[in-house]
Amino acid sequence: MRSFEKSQAYLARAERTIPLGSQTFSKSRTQFPYGVAPFFVTHAQGSRIWDVDGNEYIDFINSLASVTLGYQDPDVTAAVRQQLEQGVIFSLSHTIEAEVAEAICAMVPCAEMVRFGKNGSDATSGAVRLARAYTGKDRVAVCGYHGWQDWYIGSTARHRGVPKAIRDLTHPFPFNDLTALRSLLEARRDEFAAVILEPMNSAEPAPGFLAGVKTLAHEHGALLIFDETITGFRYANGGAQEFFGVTPDLATFGKGLANGFPVSAVAGRREIMQLMEEIFFSFTFGGEALSLAAARATLAKLRAQPVVAQLAARGERLKSGIKERIARHGLQELLSINGHPSWSFLAIADVPRATSWTTKTLLMQELFERGILSFGTHNMSYAHSEADVERLLDVYDEIFPLLRQGAFEGRMPQLLRCKPLEPLFKLR
Ligand SMILES: Cc1ncc(COP(=O)(O)O)c(C=O)c1O
Repeated sequence: MRSFEKSQAYLARAERTIPLGSQTFSKSRTQFPYGVAPFFVTHAQGSRIWDVDGNEYIDFINSLASVTLGYQDPDVTAAVRQQLEQGVIFSLSHTIEAEVAEAICAMVPCAEMVRFGKNGSDATSGAVRLARAYTGKDRVAVCGYHGWQDWYIGSTARHRGVPKAIRDLTHPFPFNDLTALRSLLEARRDEFAAVILEPMNSAEPAPGFLAGVKTLAHEHGALLIFDETITGFRYANGGAQEFFGVTPDLATFGKGLANGFPVSAVAGRREIMQLMEEIFFSFTFGGEALSLAAARATLAKLRAQPVVAQLAARGERLKSGIKERIARHGLQELLSINGHPSWSFLAIADVPRATSWTTKTLLMQELFERGILSFGTHNMSYAHSEADVERLLDVYDEIFPLLRQGAFEGRMPQLLRCKPLEPLFKLR
């Protein structure tokens, strides 16, 4: 059995000086079951990652979907090394900013101008502020996850610390439900600055849904913002907007832009983006050159090599293999596989004898034990080989009977070696 002793010792140490012991909710003990999971890594290469106890994994989390080419992609690493020789951040803007902006404009349908941030939240918050400034309205309709800032997180269960006045301006609506969106916009006519949504996460947009959202937003004088933090440079070189053929007014990018280097972007129509000059969207590290060098190399590789095609092909093999195994093991009531092949989700249902969180905990325990790092999503990278995909399918073949025993045959107490995860906060 794998040992996670060093991870646990580091966690105890980290928790003395770092609340939650992590900078990122999705890397913390709230998401990784204590006792059967790693918490800290030493290094990663290609599709592999190693934890502090020396355990090796094929990584299907890939830094929360930000690593699209694979860890330490040689082209990105070389570009960053070269930039490092010249400097990281300067007293004036660097020419690489315009180069990366031009590359994004060449690839992304809605992009005529671009501004950079660091995290996805910088970009979504900048886009929302821009939409408010452009329309002169305050309310936003949201669908999906859009980051940690007040305007979005205030609309979720994790809203402690966000003033009610801010929370009242953000209105969630369900995906694939144009009627609900229409009612929302009509209930407060001419008060919406923007409709922002993830164009897709686990569920496919129904035919006409994204175009319908665009029409509704515009009918009500609101801008359409696609949050492409994950879908951008993953579904297609031009993001979900290219993949689905619906061009928003503004779009935000983050994770896939620079193969894991910290840079995000707001892009959109010139006439709207120009207003960035009037609002305040400015930070010391906005033009940080290492990440922009990584972005330039990543975008060049996306254009030169069949990256998104391979993500989709390997991801599709995985999806169809999982689907076949769910059927073969008779687990249709418990499990389903959905999402785009490059970012797919093994969804777990509540069943009479097991909550989805308990089953998910067992799944994670058994994945980690077999050298797979995943919490049930498959964030594909260009470094995943066919063998990596086949290995995960073999692992699911071993684990699915255990899930059956745990979820349907009352054997969860014998199988689970840790406390189940708690449903504290679900992003999607
Ligand atoms: C769709 C989407 N939008 C926004 C964000 C926020 O990005 P960040 O965590 O980099 O601020 C995320 C992060 O998971 C995301 O998936």
